[in-house]
Amino acid sequence: MSDKPARPPVVAFIVAVARNGVIGRDGDLPWRLSSDLKLFRRLTMGKPILMGRKTWAGLKKKPLDGRDNIVLTRDRTFRAEGAIVVHTLDEALGECRKAAARSGADEIMVIGGAEVYRAALSHAERIYWTEVDASPEGDALFPPLDAGAWREIAVEEIERGPKDEHPARLRILERVRA
Ligand SMILES: NC(=O)c1ccc[n+]([C@@H]2O[C@H](COP(=O)([O-])OP(=O)(O)OC[C@H]3O[C@@H](n4cnc5c(N)ncnc54)[C@H](OP(=O)(O)O)[C@@H]3O)[C@@H](O)[C@H]2O)c1
Repeated sequence: MSDKPARPPVVAFIVAVARNGVIGRDGDLPWRLSSDLKLFRRLTMGKPILMGRKTWAGLKKKPLDGRDNIVLTRDRTFRAEGAIVVHTLDEALGECRKAAARSGADEIMVIGGAEVYRAALSHAERIYWTEVDASPEGDALFPPLDAGAWREIAVEEIERGPKDEHPARLRILERVRA
């Protein structure tokens, strides 16, 4: 066993973004991208996932398996079976850190939606960005990133299968530290 203290988990976003910045429509995803969902599952498995109450509703109120589901809402009466409910971003990050310490996860995965990405952006150090070659109509947008604040460390085409409506690639961005 190593004597090195464990590093605090990195706050990472995972998101699929259309060319026009759209990430959602009417509480749902505006596309069918089966390969990206598989990638999402692989990249989030075993890690705490933080989401807004509306994204939780889009999961049909069932927690994603194998991950600590943490749901952010301002509603103190809200209950979510199988998830940890939190009411502030600080509380959310605290619960995510505790869950990561329990499971040994090296990342806290912020899985959306738009409001939660906006709220948590200043905490994010890494973004798993699926770039979707489409410009659908939508009502949820990913927040603009500061030019120069992020650098791309990897990019990989996602092999397009029969259940993928659009071509897409995974870009991994990391925050540039001064
Ligand atoms: N393309 C992608 O990768 C992706 C990923 C995730 C979601 N989406 C899409 O995004 C859309 C949902 O995004 P959204 O912006 O409408 O909703 P959201 O971010 O999922 O949830 C918003 C709700 O979360 C709670 N909340 C947000 N910030 C908070 C804070 N700082 N403190 C306390 N509570 C907070 C509030 O809940 P209360 O109203 O209960 O107080 C708020 O109404 C859907 O269309 C979904 O499919 C896309």
